[in-house]
Amino acid sequence: MKKGILITGIIIVLIVLLLLVVLPGNKKSEEVIKVGSDAAFAPFEYVDAQTGELKGFDLDLMRAIGEELGIKVEIYNVAWDGIIPGLLGGNYNVIASGMTITEERKEVVNFTEPYINAGLVIVVRADDHSITTKDDLLGKKVAVQISSTGDFEATKIPGIAEVKRFNAPPDTFLELKNGGADAVIIDLAVAAEQIKATPGLYKMAAEPFTTEEYGFALRKNDTLLLEKINQTLITLKENGKYDEIYQEYFGE
Ligand code: ARG
Repeated sequence: MKKGILITGIIIVLIVLLLLVVLPGNKKSEEVIKVGSDAAFAPFEYVDAQTGELKGFDLDLMRAIGEELGIKVEIYNVAWDGIIPGLLGGNYNVIASGMTITEERKEVVNFTEPYINAGLVIVVRADDHSITTKDDLLGKKVAVQISSTGDFEATKIPGIAEVKRFNAPPDTFLELKNGGADAVIIDLAVAAEQIKATPGLYKMAAEPFTTEEYGFALRKNDTLLLEKINQTLITLKENGKYDEIYQEYFGE
């Protein structure tokens, strides 16, 4: 009889020990959201020149989402080309990188609800008067970031002499400055930021010629986190935090 009680006791202790080990381990996967971002796309994501910190609208928004959910956010600065394979391969759980929601991308990833509107513009040298519409790109060289919507659009415009593809958006502007390209096709807010940062060098040729929306991208099977992020986006819009971050990057 005594033996029976002892064995029951040992079994209970073992079960309790097992739960202590397993339960926190289970929770762990939820404790960090790993975010992949190509931080060369100010004001959405960039490396602060003074502090070396990763900054930008997308990143602050993701950090606010993590804070609201009580989950730590870790940001990885990765190359744009390969950012989706990196997500699918499990290097991170979320892409926050000014990524336009497109039908093609939706075949491989899930997007959250749109978190901001965007559109593409044509940027030219400040002293260039020959390009004012898309049609003026006939026979011209256009610089774009590889595999960006700017790349996809430029590739569709008939008569462009050459589409020059660069890994990092800042290199498209250098190419324009150096005369290796006649125009850059890039997202409006990024163009505006670059024009402001280097006065007298560049200007927009025209109004945006596409309407786009950015979403955070997740793996198809990661529907729980997707749902949580979508819910939190609503919360942050309601409680003013979204506006606060928006003002920081887009307010006057
Ligand atoms: N919005 C464009 C796209 O989705 C460009 C995004 C580039 N983002 C970046 N962080 N480099 O294709």
